Amino acid sequence: MNILGIETSCDETAVAVVKDLPAGRQVAIEILSNVVASSEKLHAKTGGIIPENAARKQLDSMLPVLTESLHFAFDDSRKDNSTLMTQHIDAIAVTVGPGLIGSLLVGVETAKTLSMIYKKPLIPVNHLVAHLYANWVDSGLEVGTSHRTPKFPAVGLVVSGGHTDFVLMRNHGDITWLGGTRDDAAGEAFDKTARLIGLPYPGGPAISKASENYNDDRLDFFPRPMINSDDLDMSFSGLKTAVLNETKSGKHNQEWYASQIQEAIVDTLVSKSIFAIGKYKPRSFLLSGGVAANSRLREKLTQKISSLKNATALFVPPPRLCTDNGVVIATCAYYNQYKIGWKDAETNPSMAIDFAIL
Ligand code: KG4
Ligand code: ZN
Repeated sequence: MNILGIETSCDETAVAVVKDLPAGRQVAIEILSNVVASSEKLHAKTGGIIPENAARKQLDSMLPVLTESLHFAFDDSRKDNSTLMTQHIDAIAVTVGPGLIGSLLVGVETAKTLSMIYKKPLIPVNHLVAHLYANWVDSGLEVGTSHRTPKFPAVGLVVSGGHTDFVLMRNHGDITWLGGTRDDAAGEAFDKTARLIGLPYPGGPAISKASENYNDDRLDFFPRPMINSDDLDMSFSGLKTAVLNETKSGKHNQEWYASQIQEAIVDTLVSKSIFAIGKYKPRSFLLSGGVAANSRLREKLTQKISSLKNATALFVPPPRLCTDNGVVIATCAYYNQYKIGWKDAETNPSMAIDFAIL
């Protein structure tokens, strides 16, 4: 079965094709193509995303990205989209929420049109749940790939630009929210503090790079609110104020700030992850979302989980599957095949992670 996955919830225009592997392989999903056009450079100029600009750019990018994805997947650029869609695609998956309304509409209307014209079923996908499915993809020999399939019950941490949520996954389609940030998302904290210290958007990768060569053991300068609370709640908004206040002292360089900020965010996420594992004792722990691309987070979480005396297996997707892409949308659709007619697809900008689509 070949599924086309369309993702436009934020600033990316992404289209991928995935295929299920023959039974007997542990990891069931293979990537045939994964094309992502980002309007990051446009947003770097304004220091963050202006929703109207993101959606306009997505309108421009959608058809070229779709065409490239189909050609790459089936290794045939002589055939037109119409022939490739008709011959090879079995279902169309699309992010219906959460996200920016203008951006979501670009993907959803494209998916509806393709579904209507080529008479293929549509599978609506929750973007946040889809991030978790990066852990079900067979991504070849990349570093960070475990080549095992997660087992249930699993605890997942979705940590992205707009969300920071812990969930319990008892099975595909059976998701309970366990806790999350009370204010800013971890990615948002990276993006906003990066701006304060003169680093470009998106802040996460910029902070990670700026802290690469900083060597100091004392990385405990900024507060970690709620790190010891007896729950999975977190708070990242105070970090902005703390950073802003400290910049007035004029004492430190950019590398110092970057390393201190990264450590404060990573410590909170790792500490809450260990708390979640202790409380729910899952068979698998699934890291996911854009911030999961952060190498310090990957390293610290791996270290801490491997030192635990329990049997929780850690899953960490390769970095390119952590940030927004069409592969995770199509993979989520493969495991949750709620097929609908094109007329029934609707966007839901504020969809929660435990929202049952059907
Ligand atoms: O999942 P994602 O691509 O989009 C959303 O669904 O929000 O996540 C984007 C977020 C941004 O806040 C970005 O700064 C952060 O992920 N991010 C990172 C890294 N790469 C992306 N944060 C820390 N370290 C990184 N390497
Ligand atoms: Zn995302």
